[in-house]
Amino acid sequence: MLNEFLIEKYYDDHVDEAPIDMSGSDMEPIGVSQLLSMKGVPIAALGQINLEYTSTLGSESLRTEISKSHESIGADDVVVFNSSGEAIFALLVSAVRAGDHVVAITPCYQSLVELAREQGAHVEFSPLLEEMDWQPDLTHLRSLIRRNTRAIIVNSPNNPTGQSLDPEIVKDLVRLAEDHNIIIVSDEIFGGLAEKQHDISPPMCEMSELSVTTSGLAKSFGLPGLRVGWLVTRNKAVREGAVRVKRYLSRCVSPISEYLSIIALQSQEKISARNRAILSSNRRVCSAFFMAHSDSFSIVPPIAGTTGFPRLLHDLPIDEFCQRISAEGGPFLLPGTVFGSSYRHFRIGLGHRNFPDALTRFRLALEQVI
Ligand SMILES: Cc1ncc(COP(=O)(O)O)c(C=O)c1O
Repeated sequence: MLNEFLIEKYYDDHVDEAPIDMSGSDMEPIGVSQLLSMKGVPIAALGQINLEYTSTLGSESLRTEISKSHESIGADDVVVFNSSGEAIFALLVSAVRAGDHVVAITPCYQSLVELAREQGAHVEFSPLLEEMDWQPDLTHLRSLIRRNTRAIIVNSPNNPTGQSLDPEIVKDLVRLAEDHNIIIVSDEIFGGLAEKQHDISPPMCEMSELSVTTSGLAKSFGLPGLRVGWLVTRNKAVREGAVRVKRYLSRCVSPISEYLSIIALQSQEKISARNRAILSSNRRVCSAFFMAHSDSFSIVPPIAGTTGFPRLLHDLPIDEFCQRISAEGGPFLLPGTVFGSSYRHFRIGLGHRNFPDALTRFRLALEQVI
């Protein structure tokens, strides 16, 4: 039996208690007309789409567009899913077996860990360390590796910390995985939005033939409503295993989503410039705010992805803090306990234009709570 998906459950239970959300990991969404206009396509074009089944792998043209943001990847290395969540599901259910050992670099998206555990794997954690700017301790990670370690799980750029793995650490991680024949399951759905994008490692699927990158359009592209995700790997056995599972799930993506996804990928530069501008501005506002409130919070300034993860320095349970903030008319905040019970942090989302307004409400509510 799968454990409760804590983030999703917390949203379902609490998000409506606050007047505004300051926690989401999504970007300001893009409308259909706005997306079509990026390629000069008239809205009437949607009327021509037949609502038929599409190919299980994803159409050749969509897979080709996805492959273009890689150097050594072709359309055949890509499988499209209904959401990256579905890609993660199909991947872990097919690639991990009872008796396997899995190392998860945490915090990470809960399904990456939960599904491996549900398969019967023994999952151990190697935490990202706040005192190391949310990087993992590779010596510790190395000490966890066993003869039966099947996979190392990582999410970079990371939700919630707003950091990405140091490229030197990535190189060591890849070497370690290859030496022990381990698959790296690399969730890169927050890619392409770092402050210094040139300092970021290439996708993991390019760095190692064994490894798998999962990604999609829900986060960095601001198009969660398309429900399109994918996995990319040159590891044929892993790819085929995931496709086998997909045939039991959604089977294929909607033709409307395929059509719009191709337009989105062809408009990647424009979308990325829009989203990076929103994030750069909000990251600056965020860092200035938390620096000005350093008696109450500490933060590693977010530089990648769409979120930040400040720590509350006051002696108040973090769930109670978040709920009292929204009860005082402040924004909805996501307590770090949904990522692990020991966090004294909360997640903030930086992808929306109303972030400065939400922060003002936060400041006012804070005066009542602390
Ligand atoms: C790190 C991470 N991976 C994957 C997903 C799933 O994305 P999708 O909406 O495409 O299923 C999320 C969604 O919040 C996420 O934060």
